[in-house]
Amino acid sequence: MNEPRTGCAFPMGRDLYGFYPPNTAGPAIIESPAVLEAVLAETPEAGVFVEIGTWGGATAAWIADRRPGMTVLSVDRFASVLCRLLWIVNRRANMQLFTGDSATFYSVARQGFAAAVFVDGDHTEEGVLADLRGAERIVRPGGTIMAHDYRQPGIPGVALAVDRFCSETDWHIVRQVASMVVLRKGVQR
Ligand SMILES: C[S@@+](CC[C@H](N)C(=O)[O-])C[C@H]1O[C@@H](n2cnc3c(N)ncnc32)[C@H](O)[C@@H]1O
Repeated sequence: MNEPRTGCAFPMGRDLYGFYPPNTAGPAIIESPAVLEAVLAETPEAGVFVEIGTWGGATAAWIADRRPGMTVLSVDRFASVLCRLLWIVNRRANMQLFTGDSATFYSVARQGFAAAVFVDGDHTEEGVLADLRGAERIVRPGGTIMAHDYRQPGIPGVALAVDRFCSETDWHIVRQVASMVVLRKGVQR
C-alpha cells in the first residue's frame, strides 16, 4: 500500500509502519517495543500525558490502556485522513484529541498542566525546538519531556533542537532508549 508521506519529514529510510502494538489499529511509528516500554516507565499513574504528533494514535492507545488513571491528550494536524480515522478507532475512554498545529495547541494550553509531554511531531530543528519550548511551559514542576527520533539517521533536526534546548535551559537528557530521550529539569545523568 502506498501511504502518502505527508505531514512531517518522517519516516526517512525506515519502514513506514513501525510495528503494531497489541489491540491497536494501525502501527505505532516507533522503532521497537522497548521504546514504548521506556515511555511508559516515564509516565506516572495519574495526570495528563501529552503526545505531540500522534499519527494513528496507536502509541497513545497503548499508553492509555496501561495508565487508566491518566488522560492521554493527542495533538496532531492530521495531514492524512487515514491517520484521523485510525485515531478514532484507537480512542479509549481516557484519550482526548486536539486537532491542529502544535503551535496552536500551545497557544491555548494552560501552563503547568501536563505530567509528561512526548514530542514526536514536526521533525525539523525549528519545529522540534518550538515544541520543546511549548512543552517546557505546559509541563508541571518535576514533570518529564520526552523526544523521539534523537540522532535518528536522516532526521538531523531532532538532535539539533534537543541539544540546543538543553544548552539554553536547565533541562538535561537523563536517559536514552534507542532514539527516545528523556529530559528532566535540573537533573543531570
Ligand atoms: C512520526 S508521526 C507521530 C508518531 C506517533 N507519535 C507514534 O508513536 O506512532 C508525526 C506526526 O506528527 C504530526 N505533525 C507534524 N508536524 C506537526 C505540527 N506542527 N503540529 C501537529 N502535528 C504535527 C504529523 O501529522 C504526524 O501524524
